[in-house]
Amino acid sequence: MRIIGKKMSVVLALMASTSMAQAEDVEVLHWWTSGGEAAALGVLKDTLKSQGIGWIDMPVSGGGGEAAMTTLRARVTAGNPPTAVQMLGFDIQDWAAEGALGNLDDVAAKEGWDAVVPPALQAFSKYDGHWIAAPVNVHSTNWVWANKAVLDGLGIAQPTTWDEFVAAMQKVKDSGKTALAHGGQPWQEATVFDGVVLSVGGTEFYKKAFVDLDPEALGGAQMVEAFKRMETLHSFTDANFSGRDWNLASAMVINGDAAFQIMGDWAKGEFLKAGKVPGTDFLCFRVPGTDGDVSFNSDQFAMFKVDSEAAKAAQAQMAADIMSPTFQSAFNVVKGSVPARTDVPNTAFDDCGKKGMADLAAASASGNLVGSMAHGHANRAAVKNAIYDVVTAAFNGEYDAETAAKNLADAVAAAK
Ligand code: BGC
Repeated sequence: MRIIGKKMSVVLALMASTSMAQAEDVEVLHWWTSGGEAAALGVLKDTLKSQGIGWIDMPVSGGGGEAAMTTLRARVTAGNPPTAVQMLGFDIQDWAAEGALGNLDDVAAKEGWDAVVPPALQAFSKYDGHWIAAPVNVHSTNWVWANKAVLDGLGIAQPTTWDEFVAAMQKVKDSGKTALAHGGQPWQEATVFDGVVLSVGGTEFYKKAFVDLDPEALGGAQMVEAFKRMETLHSFTDANFSGRDWNLASAMVINGDAAFQIMGDWAKGEFLKAGKVPGTDFLCFRVPGTDGDVSFNSDQFAMFKVDSEAAKAAQAQMAADIMSPTFQSAFNVVKGSVPARTDVPNTAFDDCGKKGMADLAAASASGNLVGSMAHGHANRAAVKNAIYDVVTAAFNGEYDAETAAKNLADAVAAAK
């Protein structure tokens, strides 16, 4: 009897502690599932843990967050939204317009976010003048990652123009190695396309096409040239690229099985996780022809409306933690991105991170900072998905460059 009583009290105590913990848990939906991403996520989990906030993990893999957004929609429709959701650009604005997001004005005012978050990010973190999301980083997509030993072995210098880049890839291909590591998924092809479109016509053309959705820019000669460049890139991929995850393409460069990958700077997280050092083992440089331009995307945590005061307090604490300068440095050093506030020192960052921070500031000052089409910062999901479809079909040879440009203009016109 006494033993049973003791057991019962242990069970009751456990139940009490679980429900107490649950009151302050946050359930976080995100798509950070690769090795480098998980390491960065660990920095966030540990920070919250140190504040007594528990973490319920809801991972849905897939860059650009398409799959995550589908899962989110299902959860919200079922009346059971997660507490906090990793979100990009126009998706944040769409959820805010639906009235689904909580309000972070109090914590934003207390911590002075208005003064330190760049206007280009505030455009997505605020809706109707109210803070509805906390930006954790700034990534950019127009990067190339290269294996230094492979280039050195073939006597290839870092390419500075598109033609030099093509010549370098040709040399790698001739040596029998894969020149361009690529993962054949629509969002990855769109990510490559961000950089290629910039390389053809700079930020002016990019904005006309992806932000203004100008039919002439979408269907004209410069877009034909962009699709031709995609054909060229396709000729440097290996036979097995179809469906490959982005981090496995990064691994090909890390292991020296391939020379280059065009990918956002989350790829750096994979190199670092593998113990590689920028400048020594790998190179990071802008897609040749896009120096001075930055196509950015910022991961933000949007907080869904919750009822309980404890849940609201946990959300506010999470938002404050995310925005602290110390956290922004520690997290972004691991993630490959750069801080989402302008007052974080670059001291803890490696050379690629320092370059990323300097490039972002310079592009912002010169007007050459554009939102990534591929990652939901140029237009809404319907338009983005229409562009994905055409870019992927063209990359896979379903039609030639002229037809691709025409189809792009038509698909965007139908979607907008
Ligand atoms: C996100 C990154 C993420 C990448 C690949 C992008 O959409 O902004 O944080 O690492 O997808 O999963």
